[in-house]
Amino acid sequence: MCGIVGYTGLGLAAGQPATAETTPVPSGHPLEVALEGLRRLEYRGYDSAGVALVGPGRDDVAFAKKSGKLGNLVGEIEAHPMPQATAAIGHTRWATHGGPTDVNAHPHLADGDRLAVIHNGIIENFAQLKKELLAEGVFFRSETDTEVAAQLLAREYRRAGDLTEAMAATARRLEGTFTLLAVHADDPLKVVGARHDSPLVVGLGEGENFLGSDVAAFIAFTKEALELGQDQIVTITPTSVDVVDFRNKPAEAKRFTVDWDAAAAEKSGFESFMDKEIHDQPHAVADTLLGRTDVDGRLTLDEIRIDEAVLRAVDKIIVIACGTAAYAGHVAKYAIEHWCRIPVEVELAHEFRYRDPILNEKTLVVAISQSGETMDTLMAVRHAREQGAKVLSIVNTQGSTIPRESDAVLYTHAGPEIAVASTKAFLSQITAAYLLGLYLAQLRGNKFADEVAYLLGELRDVPAKIQTVIERGEYVRATARSMQDATSVLFLGRHVGYPVALEGALKLKELAYIHAEGFAAGELKHGPIALIDEGQPVFVVVPSPRGRDSLHSKVVSNIQEIRARGARTLVIAEDGDDEVRRYADEIFWIPQVPTLIQPLLAVVPLQIFAMSLATAKGLDVDQPRNLAKSVTVE
Ligand code: G6P
Repeated sequence: MCGIVGYTGLGLAAGQPATAETTPVPSGHPLEVALEGLRRLEYRGYDSAGVALVGPGRDDVAFAKKSGKLGNLVGEIEAHPMPQATAAIGHTRWATHGGPTDVNAHPHLADGDRLAVIHNGIIENFAQLKKELLAEGVFFRSETDTEVAAQLLAREYRRAGDLTEAMAATARRLEGTFTLLAVHADDPLKVVGARHDSPLVVGLGEGENFLGSDVAAFIAFTKEALELGQDQIVTITPTSVDVVDFRNKPAEAKRFTVDWDAAAAEKSGFESFMDKEIHDQPHAVADTLLGRTDVDGRLTLDEIRIDEAVLRAVDKIIVIACGTAAYAGHVAKYAIEHWCRIPVEVELAHEFRYRDPILNEKTLVVAISQSGETMDTLMAVRHAREQGAKVLSIVNTQGSTIPRESDAVLYTHAGPEIAVASTKAFLSQITAAYLLGLYLAQLRGNKFADEVAYLLGELRDVPAKIQTVIERGEYVRATARSMQDATSVLFLGRHVGYPVALEGALKLKELAYIHAEGFAAGELKHGPIALIDEGQPVFVVVPSPRGRDSLHSKVVSNIQEIRARGARTLVIAEDGDDEVRRYADEIFWIPQVPTLIQPLLAVVPLQIFAMSLATAKGLDVDQPRNLAKSVTVE
């Protein structure tokens, strides 16, 4: 969804000390920072982009905006160079109100082009506000709800004469979700931002400050950041950051240091971010496991600041998440129930909230989210806490909203995930959820310390085995290339292989736009088998023959059933599984691991398959059509 960047700087030479008295030197830097920030936020998904600049000596805002990719905006700026500036705001828009045209792109201008606004979210009462403004004779250039906010802000600015105060007055009138950023030609060193149920983080620099939808917008420039609370307004100048609430009263924001490496958000020689992130997976899992034991090897999750007595009393866990994160939760259900003997429900966040779920102070709600911003998940978190449940979130992005609104957070350490379709986040989410399961098992006495240590040891062996699967990827790639014309692919799995099948199907839909469905293998005879005819490709995730009684043989029988009806079987099986080899048209081998750990390996060939097939079709695997990485509206 929309990406937002704000920047103000004195145009200082590196190392030059910044003071409030330092004379502002207009520089080309604000535009570069805004464009670099937008480039780093491209992954969120967008269909138009724009920037606005202010600088001393100019009595209006300079702006450029273009539909399509960032390259179009850069081309426009090259054709019509922009003036030097001291502050900039930049926006990538994911269309909601009004199509993805140049006119509807942000920024939106008001006050005789002296004020510019960018916005993420949806203003629900925009029609009513527009009517009010039209009655006052305001002229609108676009169909967007954002322009209504810009015009409202202009009116408030004329009344208050101060951009921060005007922003507070505007925010009080708006209903819906929004992050708004504004600059005014009267105040060329200032950027004002407001947030309500939509993300905004502050980056702290020397003689410069930043705003961003997430930390990726500014990690190339600074790692020091401020996490804003709900309903706050932030005013940045090159030498100050002030935070107030919507009543214009001083408010607190939390400082933190971003632990992501800016270089981790680069392609590093890979063809796509997706390819790079698939290759990052051994590290994502290893880093998520890192530092989580004490000197005696005992699992310690210091971040979980929920009272131990409360955790011992938990009688139900509900996992809430969307998309890939929900499938990670689905995998975790099998492990947590097995290790802790606590019932675990997994529910899509948007269904959970509107279903009137039964929960109380003995329910632990686990919210899983890579971005920490998914609106459906955030709303479910709020709903759960209102019902008295404790919420523990498993999140990858520091400074995001879901951790802030949870009772505790367990961070995954996957690093920035740029490709829209999730890969390394999935593996690190499963890993973190497993750590939580083992921690609860240890705490509640379901597992002895040595059993937990043994299972942790097995998890620590996983990164090297993921690496092996990645190194065997060429056969998967070649198979995918040969299947470019496939119009439908099915995925079957059982037990933990079932959510893996669902995730395999999701990856293929997202990346290659091919009809794909995942089924529980046991359900085959109850319907899906009717889909099988000559040549129908079916992936089957085969459980370990050394695992739970009869699971393996049941899935092998399923393979025979579909093969007898003409299916082309593409089988993921463990090294040495000679029995299944006979029934596989293609076989993708993965190293031997315990049953519960298998998803961390079995999903990798499915990721590589979807990526390679999409690449062979000439599709953009990092930014698939219609999808957004961070879905910040319901
Ligand atoms: C979007 C993305 C998916 C992701 C889902 C949940 O739909 O395209 O890849 O799995 O959101 O995102 P989250 O950030 O909450 O994990």
